[in-house]
Amino acid sequence: MQLSLTQPSSWILLLLVTNLFLWKNVASVPFCAMRNVRCFMFLEDMFDLAGSMSHNISIEVSEMFTEFEKHYAKVPGLKDKSLTRCHTTSLPIPENKEQAKHTHYGALLKSAHMVLKAWKSPLNDLVRQISTLKNIPDTIISKATDIKLKINSVEQGVNSIINRMLQNGDEERNYPAWSSLPIFKSNDEDASIRSFYGMISCLDNDCKKVDIYLNVLKCYVLQMDNC
Ligand SMILES: *[C@@H]1O[C@H](CO)[C@@H](O)[C@H](O)[C@H]1NC(C)=O
Repeated sequence: MQLSLTQPSSWILLLLVTNLFLWKNVASVPFCAMRNVRCFMFLEDMFDLAGSMSHNISIEVSEMFTEFEKHYAKVPGLKDKSLTRCHTTSLPIPENKEQAKHTHYGALLKSAHMVLKAWKSPLNDLVRQISTLKNIPDTIISKATDIKLKINSVEQGVNSIINRMLQNGDEERNYPAWSSLPIFKSNDEDASIRSFYGMISCLDNDCKKVDIYLNVLKCYVLQMDNC
């Protein structure tokens, strides 16, 4: 059978080949992050940790989201998606695992970093203000605090991988602006709850994406099967 590039399947094949080639290069370089002239962590271990942490974060955010949704189920219009606009919507990042697998590792690392960094200020606001909601369960507050710390830590980890691996790693990167929403300060309790709900739903989607990116990377770098 002759392969023609006008056939969609041939394009996929080409992408896969290109992709494997890229990953082969990554996996064959001996990485070691240096501190005080000592090798303190191999890059493979950093990818392993970043993948595992981002997966755990994604699970914890989902749990927080479900808990919030159940707790405030009676709030009118809670799930009205038309009210939600995520501040990260405009980021040029892969949408799903298929796209992530066909993305250069450098772009994938930067996508993960952009999303994590974009959530730093919003999470500070969230943790500071969510406790002002009436009857908010303590478990939600403690999850939010924990998630904030973990996201900061993965963000730093991914940043050091980028600085280690990419020549232009410290180039200026643009992060979407976050302005503390006036709705958080609303006197209307239901409106505040809807804002928090929308925000947590955005966080949930974004953490799932970061989980995918970092685990696609982990899978290729550690040369696992079935990436
Ligand atoms: C992720 O969660 C699992 C299961 O709770 C735990 O064993 C593992 O240590 C966690 N990974 C990290 C990096 O925290």
